[in-house]
Amino acid sequence: MSNIKACISGIGSYLPPDILSNSDLEKMVDTNDHWITTRTGIKTRHILKGEGLGTSHMGTKAVQQLLEKTNTDPNEIELIICATVTADMVFPDNANTIADKVGLKKAYGFDVNAACSGFLYSINIASKFIESGTHKKVIVVGTDKMSSIIDYTDRATCVIFGDGAGAVLLEANTEGYGIQDSILKGDGSGREFLHMKAGGSVKPATVETVANKEHFVYQDGKPVFKRAVSGMSSTIKDILKRNELTKDDISWVVPHQANKRIIDSVAHMLDFPMEKVMVNIEKYGNTTAATLPLCLYDYENQLKKGDKIILTAFGGGFTWGSVLINWAYD
Ligand code: UT7
Repeated sequence: MSNIKACISGIGSYLPPDILSNSDLEKMVDTNDHWITTRTGIKTRHILKGEGLGTSHMGTKAVQQLLEKTNTDPNEIELIICATVTADMVFPDNANTIADKVGLKKAYGFDVNAACSGFLYSINIASKFIESGTHKKVIVVGTDKMSSIIDYTDRATCVIFGDGAGAVLLEANTEGYGIQDSILKGDGSGREFLHMKAGGSVKPATVETVANKEHFVYQDGKPVFKRAVSGMSSTIKDILKRNELTKDDISWVVPHQANKRIIDSVAHMLDFPMEKVMVNIEKYGNTTAATLPLCLYDYENQLKKGDKIILTAFGGGFTWGSVLINWAYD
């Protein structure tokens, strides 16, 4: 096996300036701050506004910041993978659009549609390109404009989601730092609980699909909640076991930010103290493919070289899994 690992060597992020608070939502639908806070843990979300601005706008900003922070020449990037469910257009992909806007002249790219597990799936894919020795520098960007597919008259979904982007640079490392192991899972039968009804090839957009509000997120929250807790907990347990680690060896758990109660339940099931669990859902809500890099960005100062961290996610598909990382820098 190759001794090359793919390590994260920098993180960039972008959050659009407009903020949607719980009190704003109280004026839009029949909800209240108490329900939203106690049932989800969310206080505010960022919303991308502005004519002609889509998901690639946020992804571009996150990647530009990443390149500046890491002092990376755009010409060194060979591949960019974009995790998203809200690409600017059904086609072409967002990755090549972002590469064009940033000026990654030597990179090619593609999108990964794995909903809230998109970033997790994408860093795993990126790591294989690096471990094989064919690529040295790969960017993974998770970016979603969830506000473009949310019905702001549906209180069950509009309080949960927000917009944002996060990007990481993955580089070849031969000192043992980087992605150590990944356990990724999928179960397509879960699609009935979380999907968008129209706009795909089964039901292309028509006047009726628009009138019936079928271009928005549909979610049956309770079964998704249960599967999210069991999916993230079981893959964390499995990855610990496979790598002969215990919870005490882990410095940080980085969970997908869908609901604070889900995060609490996962931590409780595994007996992880909450001080070791990254949480920023109160500020951003569920930004789908962006939650994990936004957590890493917010906690970057607290991460130390050699920290063992586990990223875990669950999302539409269903898709879920956990990735074990030996953190590469202070
Ligand atoms: O990231 C991708 C994966 N997604 C997830 O992981 C999300 C998983 N699911 C969840 O986080 C939760 O199921 C939700 C936050 C979506 C909903 O929370 P819940 O505790 O499962 O609530 P519920 O859907 O069972 O609804 C309980 C009550 C209902 O009223 P009744 O029927 O008991 O009278 C809802 O109509 O709460 C009501 N409700 C609300 N009330 C005030 C639903 N949304 C709201 C709201 N404000 N925004």
